[in-house]
Amino acid sequence: MRTLSLSNGSVLPAIGLGTWKTTRGEAAVAVDAALAAGYRHFDCATIYKNEAEIGEVFHHWLSSGRIRREELFITSKLWNNAHLARHVRPAVERTLRELQLDFLDLYLIHWPISFSSDCDHPKRAEQYLPPDDNRLIATWHTMEKLVRKGLLRGIGLSNCKRSRLQELFTAADIKPAVLQVECHPYLQQRQLLDWCRENSIAVTAFAPLGSGDRPENIRNANVIELLNNPVLQKIATETGSTPAAVALAWNLARDVAVIPKSIHPEHLRENLKAASLYLSLSQRKRIDQLNCGLRLIDGSPFCSKKSPYSLDWLWTDTA
Ligand SMILES: NC(=O)c1ccc[n+]([C@@H]2O[C@H](COP(=O)([O-])OP(=O)(O)OC[C@H]3O[C@@H](n4cnc5c(N)ncnc54)[C@H](OP(=O)(O)O)[C@@H]3O)[C@@H](O)[C@H]2O)c1
Repeated sequence: MRTLSLSNGSVLPAIGLGTWKTTRGEAAVAVDAALAAGYRHFDCATIYKNEAEIGEVFHHWLSSGRIRREELFITSKLWNNAHLARHVRPAVERTLRELQLDFLDLYLIHWPISFSSDCDHPKRAEQYLPPDDNRLIATWHTMEKLVRKGLLRGIGLSNCKRSRLQELFTAADIKPAVLQVECHPYLQQRQLLDWCRENSIAVTAFAPLGSGDRPENIRNANVIELLNNPVLQKIATETGSTPAAVALAWNLARDVAVIPKSIHPEHLRENLKAASLYLSLSQRKRIDQLNCGLRLIDGSPFCSKKSPYSLDWLWTDTA
């Protein structure tokens, strides 16, 4: 398995399993099949509402001795309703309980957007906390304490633009080990990747296959779904592989980790094989030309008229 070395000394398997949209009943089957196929890196989150089911599978594999804890790399994420300092530790403890683990390898702030603690998804204006990057820094300092206590091995961020990341990086005592952002041939994130490389932050690409099963409310009918893109299809034919494997291999060649989601054993195996797919420089350059800045998961449901947050606040870099 290809790996990336993290600034905290941990080793991140470059291909992991995404678990968003993996519903109850599917999650256990998918994670069990992924472990059997050789996956050791799992991307979880409280808001995916499947951690308890996934935890049953981890427990089964660990307690039967089929795998050792040190072989696994488990990520989870703090949801937007638990950013206040007093909510962070209970959120981590709940995830640990559900996943049946003593520590997480990586814990991310899922979004820089904060909700009140009484809701998963705000329906009313008063359920949003106002935008405040200092609150995010306070959340970070609370997570740092949990690193010192041994509950978290590494901490990081997700859905952060460069200027916000830079501000937090400056304030942090424990630097972010990983940034998880949307990253695929349509949204290549080159400047953000360069900044992360300069500051020893590893990058994990979410939606690396273009999130073809993303929810209807964030779908744009005008988009050619990534896996149907003719350039990826042509390169798949040239290399005797598939568009999915090509999209993953392209990110891996840039030293970006990928966390494709699948519930199908044949897709799980195919995605893992992307680690050994070689793309020539000219094939990679053809993929580079697909960059069009298309963000598929842009947080627009959190930026409705009722919300104090905007897409501009989320994504447009200041200086
Ligand atoms: N931090 C964040 O805010 C954030 C946001 C989004 C996602 N994520 C993480 O990133 C993970 C991946 O992103 P994603 O789930 O949105 O999308 P994705 O992994 O880009 O795409 C998932 C879709 O691709 C299909 N697929 C998987 N392997 C395939 C293959 N070999 N050939 C053809 N189709 C294939 C899946 O279908 P089948 O299941 O039928 O195989 C599913 O429809 C998530 O699951 C989650 O863990 C994080």
